[in-house]
Amino acid sequence: MKIAVVGTGYVGLVTGTCFAETGNQVTCIDIDQRKVEKLNNGIIPIYEPGLDVLFNRNTAEGRLKFTTQLAEGIEGAEVIFLALPTPPGEDGSADLKYILKVAGDLGQIMKDYAVIVDKSTVPVGTAEKVREYISLAAQVEFDVVSNPEFLREGVAIEDFMKPDRVVIGTQSERAKVIMTKLYAPLVRQGNPIIFMDERSAEMTKYAANSFLAVKISFMNEIANLCEKVGANVDDIRRGIGTDSRIGKRFLFAGIGYGGSCFPKDVQALAKTSQEYAYDFKILKSVMEVNARQKTKLLPVINEHFNGDLKGKTIAVWGLAFKPYTDDIREAPALENIQALLAAGAKVTAYDPEAMENVRQVLGNKITYAHTSYAALDDADALVIMTEWPMFRTPEFGKMELLLKNKVIFDGRNLYELDQMKELGYTYYSIGREA
Ligand code: UGA
Repeated sequence: MKIAVVGTGYVGLVTGTCFAETGNQVTCIDIDQRKVEKLNNGIIPIYEPGLDVLFNRNTAEGRLKFTTQLAEGIEGAEVIFLALPTPPGEDGSADLKYILKVAGDLGQIMKDYAVIVDKSTVPVGTAEKVREYISLAAQVEFDVVSNPEFLREGVAIEDFMKPDRVVIGTQSERAKVIMTKLYAPLVRQGNPIIFMDERSAEMTKYAANSFLAVKISFMNEIANLCEKVGANVDDIRRGIGTDSRIGKRFLFAGIGYGGSCFPKDVQALAKTSQEYAYDFKILKSVMEVNARQKTKLLPVINEHFNGDLKGKTIAVWGLAFKPYTDDIREAPALENIQALLAAGAKVTAYDPEAMENVRQVLGNKITYAHTSYAALDDADALVIMTEWPMFRTPEFGKMELLLKNKVIFDGRNLYELDQMKELGYTYYSIGREA
């Protein structure tokens, strides 16, 4: 099948590459000329494990192409994916200007029937708006389908190629047949394609992300209470996660969720509720809980140093919002580092992938270490912000020689309390006794 993907951000690039891998002829279109040049020269602008292998194979074999020209890119395409940004506007609602602009353009240039697919996370009612904008000038028949994407950064390829489910919002039988054919290689293990109307599909995506944000925030609240009552949140997690109604995943307490999706989507769903005069109380609480959780360790750090961080050197392990990505959008690390700097501390940070991105934001305000151990040299304490696997089983003996004090503030509960006690560390974590 010939398909086009408009927008080569995270979702667009993964969608295009994976559909090329399943044998389709894919053209990705982006208005950013520099990005398209890079992609045409084999340079992938994001870090995503496994993407390079598929990208290289499919570009080399001619199934994956890039262009800045919309008309050229969609020529002959049976399916046109819209994977465009929907940044939050000032009021928190998703801004649809990019999507609607392309919809308007498509109406003018489409020469044959095509299925236009909303892949980005878009508010309820967007498919209808896209249809309206295309209709303004369209001379051919077309269908608009909502097909939200559920991939996670860091495991995007696996999530895309083996989705738990594929959600397709459309009432058009013609579009259903085409989408079923396109997704057939990804649902061979019996993972379902769930058909529904467009509005329900759009809502499903927000419901999924918001529910996961609720799950995490609920555990963060339990963790905070555990600290007060003297219980251990890791045991609670194991105790409740084994109940299949609750499930094991997304129950890890920490310093809050970040990234480009949960914060934006929870906010956008809250905004939608407001527009429909519905008081969605849980969403408001989730946003409040997460904002508080992100800087939860700051007062603990402050208190440990008797309110005086001036001149103290703090080592930070982990800058990305989660492991296996270089993405620092809404990353708790940034907010914490800025607060530490404002309190007069010096920060030496290490992250295996995200340091270049942080340098764009913080420049020389912090020191970037070449290795996790180099970050510890002469530091007064270590703060852990991201659970990269390499931080889980470090050489404690080596750390001891570098750190000035054996003090760790762990925002991701990487170590066992007994182990830390035995090693003689002053160890602060989340939802467990100090
Ligand atoms: C999330 C969803 O998981 C995807 O299904 C969805 O497609 C994507 O958003 C999107 O809308 O595009 P992602 O933002 O890549 O994916 O990352 P997650 O793995 O979901 O993690 C989100 C945040 O939750 C991270 O900050 C992570 O540290 C935090 N988290 C996750 C916890 O604090 N505890 C947990 O138990 C799990």
